[in-house]
Parts: sequence; C-alpha cells; structure tokens
Amino acid sequence: MNCGTAPRGSGCRSPRFDCAHKVSRNVSGIPLIWHPKAGFVGTVSIYRHFIRPLFFSADPESVHHFAMGFLEAFGPLMRFFAPSLDARLGREVFGVRFPSPVGLAAGFDKNAVALAAWEALGFGFAEIGTVTAKAQPGNPRPRLFRLPELEAVINRLGFNNEGAQGIARRLETLRADGGWPSIPVGVNLGKSKVTPLEEATADYVTSFRRLRGLGDYFVLNVSSPNTPGLRKLQDKAALEELLGAVQAENTGSAPLLLKIAPDLEWPAIDEILALVEANKLAGLIVTNTTIDHSSVPEARRQQGGLSGRPLRERSFEVLKFVVSRTRLPVIAVGGIGSADEALRRLDAGAALIQIYTALVYEGPALIHAIHNALLSRVVR
Ligand SMILES: Cc1cc2nc3c(=O)[nH]c(=O)nc-3n(C[C@H](O)[C@H](O)[C@H](O)COP(=O)(O)O)c2cc1C
Repeated sequence: MNCGTAPRGSGCRSPRFDCAHKVSRNVSGIPLIWHPKAGFVGTVSIYRHFIRPLFFSADPESVHHFAMGFLEAFGPLMRFFAPSLDARLGREVFGVRFPSPVGLAAGFDKNAVALAAWEALGFGFAEIGTVTAKAQPGNPRPRLFRLPELEAVINRLGFNNEGAQGIARRLETLRADGGWPSIPVGVNLGKSKVTPLEEATADYVTSFRRLRGLGDYFVLNVSSPNTPGLRKLQDKAALEELLGAVQAENTGSAPLLLKIAPDLEWPAIDEILALVEANKLAGLIVTNTTIDHSSVPEARRQQGGLSGRPLRERSFEVLKFVVSRTRLPVIAVGGIGSADEALRRLDAGAALIQIYTALVYEGPALIHAIHNALLSRVVR
C-alpha cells in the first residue's frame, strides 16, 4: 500500500512516501486518537463532532475572536511542534517560493496576529488584511452570519482593522524578533471607509508606502461588497489610475495582484485583464464574496458578501474564464471545501488556492486532506 491507495487517516507506512500519515495529526501536529487497525484517525471528525458544535453554539464573531486569541497565543508553540511540509508540494509562483499551494484567504487574520499559527497548521502561505490606511472599527454588529445548511457565511464586517501604521509596526516587530514565519505572507489592501471614492488611489498608496517591504506579495482589493462604492474601483478609469499609481510606488518590484468580484460580467473582466497586463501586475485573485444571494432562502438573507458552498460554481466559472484569457498566475478562492474541489481549481489552471469559509466548517484538517490528495497524485 502506498499513499495513493491508503484510506485517509490509515497511516501510510511506506518507506518511500512521507505523506498520508500527516492527515492524522491535529492542529499542532500532535496525534489525537489511535485506533489499533486504522492508526491515527479523525482530525476532521474531531473538529466536526466536538469543536464545531461548541463553536456554532456561540455568536460567530465572538468565536472568531476567541479562536484568533488562541492562535495568537499558541501559534509560536504550535509552530515548534508542526510537521514539515512535503517538499513535493512546493512551487514557485510570480517569483515567490510557496511550500504548498494551499493558503489562508484574506479577512481571517486582518491584523496579522497569528502568522506563526498559519504556518503551524500547514498553510503554504497566508494573506493578511484587508488593511486600510486608517484604523477603523468596521460596521455595527451583528455583521457575521453562519448558514450551516448551505455551508456558507454572510459577512458585512466592513474592513475592521488596526490600520496600515499599526499593522506595519507588528510586522516589523515580527521580523526583528525572529517571529516571521517561513511561509510567504501576502498583504491585502483596501480603502478606508471615511476616504471619499475620488481619493481612493491616495488612500491605497498611503497603505502601500507604509507596508511595502513587509510582505511577499501585495493585493489590491477592489471587490469587497462591504465598503460603499469600493467595487466601482473595478471600472476602467478608476482602476487604471489605481494600478498605475501603486505600481509607480512599487520600487522594490513586489508582486502586485488584483482581487476581483465574482459578480462581474465577462466584458468587464476582459477590460480588467487588459489593465492588469498593461500595468504589469503579477497576477489575480479570483474571487471575493458574492452579492448574489439567490441561493439563500429569503428568510436567511442578510446584507453582505456570501461565501462558501453557494459561491463555488460561480467562482469556478470566473476562474476558468480568467485563465482562458490571460497567462498571468491566478489564485483561486471561493467555495473550496474539499480536496476534490481544490484539485479541480488547480486542474483548471489556478497556480495557488485559498480557503476561508471551509476552515470554519471543516477545520484545519482540510489543509492536510488537500495535501494528501496532491501527494497521492504525485505518487500515482
Ligand atoms: C468573514 C469574512 C471576512 C472577509 N474579509 C475579507 C477581507 O477583509 N478582504 C478580502 O479581500 N476578502 C475578505 N473575505 C473574502 C475571502 O477572502 C474569500 O475571497 C471569500 O470568502 C471566498 O472564499 P471562501 O468561499 O473560501 O470563503 C472575507 C470573507 C469572510 C467570510
């Protein structure tokens, strides 16, 4: 038996392939349950059967803050015990070496407080932010809603974050103290709510100036539905100004990416791709949350961006369209909730993938399930 044929969690004992047993480790890399025949089993089910019900019994945002507090406090320790990633998962994209193609999507760690934990959980990269030039509290609560029957989330957080200055200081401290993770860190930038749309470019430039040199790649987020008018920056004139101005400041030639919405029409995407190429961006992130709530029963609808399973097919369609129109690398995100879906995105041409909502529903073992699926392909 090799890793390609071993059932998940059965504990690969092949001397040649160092892979399947990694799924049998919990979030800090310590084995949880030993079964005499199956080996270490069930990190997915431990999350699903014990941790998730506990989490889902409380207010979503309070749980998020609790989890982030835990990961911030224990990340450095978890990192110490984390198993190393199989070298065959690694790849180079826009000049950056990624130890795995599976990353944490923007919005989970807005203030970059838990970078060590993301590495320890097995992510191949983590994207912090969205960071805005000014610190801001975001929209009034409640602003985060679970839809378990759809494995979805609706959020209207509105870029709550500590601002470019505070976050830059934290990143500088991490670098100085040796706490910087060994995985690439992306920095996602957005517009401050109080800044009028006509001054958006200056707002992004302020954040970029403060944070450049502190990330492995940068993302211009013009696609969140929760900052009034933000998605208008996807229009040709505004986008041309924004991309040109930020690239003019990009003296160190950091890879700069654009994150787009799933709700754009094909001609609008074509227009965006032309601008992205003309301004020599390094790639795209496809996609943000959707404002199309038609898959949500009316009684459960909330204002905000919808993510998770209902976004999966639209996000996949947009990915296919984008990769058919450009040779630039694309990071796929949106409704990736299983190893099969992760493989489908990579097969469709994504260079890397990111997850957010599935981390809430499946827990961190999903990362290892994706790694195992990728490795079993290598073996086959
Ligand atoms: C609660 C929440 C907050 C988010 N915040 C941000 C954000 O600040 N910036 C951003 O670019 N995307 C943000 N996103 C979008 C995700 O990065 C991702 O693009 C989207 O959720 C689709 O992926 P998923 O279906 O795996 O969740 C957020 C998503 C959620 C659910």
